[in-house]
Amino acid sequence: MPATTVLITGASTGIGYELAKLFARDRHNLVLVARSGEKLAQVANELQSLGVTVRTYSLDLTQPPAPKFLFDQLQTEGFTIDILINNAGFGAFGEFAQMSNDEIFGQIQLNIIALTELTRLFLPAMLARHTGRIMNVASTAGFQPGPLMAVYYATKAYVISFSEALANEVRHSGVTVTCFCPGATHTGFAKRAGNDKSRLFKQLGAMNVEKVALDGYRAVMEGRTLAISGAHNWLVAQSTRFAPRKMVTALSRWISEKAE
Ligand SMILES: NC(=O)c1ccc[n+]([C@@H]2O[C@H](COP(=O)([O-])OP(=O)(O)OC[C@H]3O[C@@H](n4cnc5c(N)ncnc54)[C@H](OP(=O)(O)O)[C@@H]3O)[C@@H](O)[C@H]2O)c1
Repeated sequence: MPATTVLITGASTGIGYELAKLFARDRHNLVLVARSGEKLAQVANELQSLGVTVRTYSLDLTQPPAPKFLFDQLQTEGFTIDILINNAGFGAFGEFAQMSNDEIFGQIQLNIIALTELTRLFLPAMLARHTGRIMNVASTAGFQPGPLMAVYYATKAYVISFSEALANEVRHSGVTVTCFCPGATHTGFAKRAGNDKSRLFKQLGAMNVEKVALDGYRAVMEGRTLAISGAHNWLVAQSTRFAPRKMVTALSRWISEKAE
């Protein structure tokens, strides 16, 4: 099999870093993106020792020119991206009215706009080659409204809807689009979001990040359209489809609230 190159956003830590390790172990070359150049350099050092090439880009994908800049750099350097993993994302906890514009629009810019733009930039060449894989990392948050994290939950609902629709559009093309939905996972995510003291993370329990990444890795390599990590998360996502929406929203708020 010829060497493939995988582009992973948000690969300096958390789920993206674990995905990068899994791809490297299976001999895929990597292009890794995050803001922290220092952390990316450490990851690159570690993964290059597995015999793959690793190129890193330290970029803030909330900045509007960043996705196109990345695409142009990769074109100039002669990279072909065979697999695109749109993983970078963040959440912010708090009431919408009190949230800063940076938090609100940063989430939309990273979780929705950068993801959509990178897909728009890399998909046409995959279609022309009749091969390629895209995985968009959403969340189980995307299956219901999320009071106290209203914008984050809504961004993930977008990712699910967009990815499933796109997977259908390209279904006969040789390109697959996978939407991967982790539930609460032990990474730096909750601390950054400010919901690490919530019932969700404190009482209901979060999954191991290596296990979650392995589920995501399998989902993209199998070309699955929608994959939810963890049987309990799958059950919760299904149950929200039949329960009254007001009740689902109230329950969603309850799990986001601080644990006693
Ligand atoms: N952990 C959970 O409970 C959970 C649950 C469901 C879904 N998810 C989703 O899974 C994905 C990965 O989350 P995680 O838990 O691995 O989070 P994490 O541990 O906080 O890692 C996030 C990654 O994204 C990068 N990143 C953050 N802001 C960025 C920006 N503006 N530009 C470029 N890169 C940026 C971070 O690196 P830098 O800080 O160096 O930029 C890091 O590599 C996200 O889309 C998240 O929404 C997480």
